[in-house]
Amino acid sequence: MKIAVLPGDGIGTEIVAEAVKVLQALSLPLEMEHAPVGGAAYEQHGHPLPESTLKLAMDSDAVLFGAVGDWKYDKLDRPLRPEQAILGLRKHLGLFANFRPAICYEQLVGASSLKPELIAGLDILIIRELTGDIYFGQPRGRRTATDGHFPGAEEAFDTMRYSRPEIERIAHVAFQAARKRRKKVTSVDKANVLETFQFWKDVVSDVHAQYPDVELEHMYVDNAAMQLVKAPKKFDVIVTGNMFGDILSDEASMLTGSIGMLPSASLNERGQGLYEPSHGSAPDIAGQGIANPLATILSAAMMLRFSLNQPEAADRIEAAVQRVLAQGLRTPDIWSEGTTRVGTAQMGDAVVRAL
Ligand code: NAI
Ligand code: MG
Repeated sequence: MKIAVLPGDGIGTEIVAEAVKVLQALSLPLEMEHAPVGGAAYEQHGHPLPESTLKLAMDSDAVLFGAVGDWKYDKLDRPLRPEQAILGLRKHLGLFANFRPAICYEQLVGASSLKPELIAGLDILIIRELTGDIYFGQPRGRRTATDGHFPGAEEAFDTMRYSRPEIERIAHVAFQAARKRRKKVTSVDKANVLETFQFWKDVVSDVHAQYPDVELEHMYVDNAAMQLVKAPKKFDVIVTGNMFGDILSDEASMLTGSIGMLPSASLNERGQGLYEPSHGSAPDIAGQGIANPLATILSAAMMLRFSLNQPEAADRIEAAVQRVLAQGLRTPDIWSEGTTRVGTAQMGDAVVRAL
């Protein structure tokens, strides 16, 4: 099983080192090859996603990704900025399905901004379509308006767009994921206003005919945003488009306490995937050895489950993380009175011991 390890910038290198430690402790036949990405790759090769890094990613069964970005690259032309590396990887690998589980571990109930009773036991999964929608639809651009409220004025426009096959494949992913969980899918749309999302709703309903054992509910995105903070445990799997998913997944991530706890997976049709924490390179704390490595360690568990067919190993890592939290070990982002403050490497070592 070949894994491309792309640590990237900032805390990326620190947290990925801990996930690699944990993977090595499993004694599975894993071949891990490192390559630079983002600002680190720009420094070495003059490009955030060098050919050699892209080739390694394409030739591997899975990619373990840290994070990219730093303000010092803000002055570069857009194609050379570190963030282009992650967009390039998504595009070249065809990673259309983004999984973001929001799980509230019992030990961290107090770290959430919501009342404990609302989030204790929370375990929901947001599935965001990653390659379509208004983020990529053409045409887009700036022009002089010829109609509308202000003819002759400067204006900008984007195109919201989804094809039937794009919606069908993400709907299948959602129903199949729900089958392994509590068998409920909430499809989030804005069908009352947008033709794209009336179509989304129709196509998801068509696909649902093949999954009679799974309950399907449709919800408008504004209501979904409200329900996520009102009664998040009513959800099981949420499936939605690229833009709504971007916003709702960040909202859901905060239910659980710290962004440092949240893993993610981005999958293509061949089951290949890119696994990364939901957070960025955190330049404000980089190099201090205090970043929380658990989101990355939990991303490695998702990699074992989804791309490497090692569900038992994934379960072991998740159980080890819970054990370490039960022991009271906390990086500063999740620290509270009465718990023990540890650094990045100590946290990784503790997970290895718990394994
Ligand atoms: P960020 O997620 O890097 O940081 C937001 C806040 O959360 C910071 O205060 C940071 O210290 C904290 N934080 C993040 N991860 C943490 C961890 N594991 N442990 C403890 N605290 C943690 O987002 P920000 O500051 O908006 O962006 C910083 C850079 O990261 C930018 O260059 C941005 O473009 C990039 N970025 C990259 C992503 C990626 O590689 N996929 C995703 C999001 C942002
Ligand atoms: Mg986002």
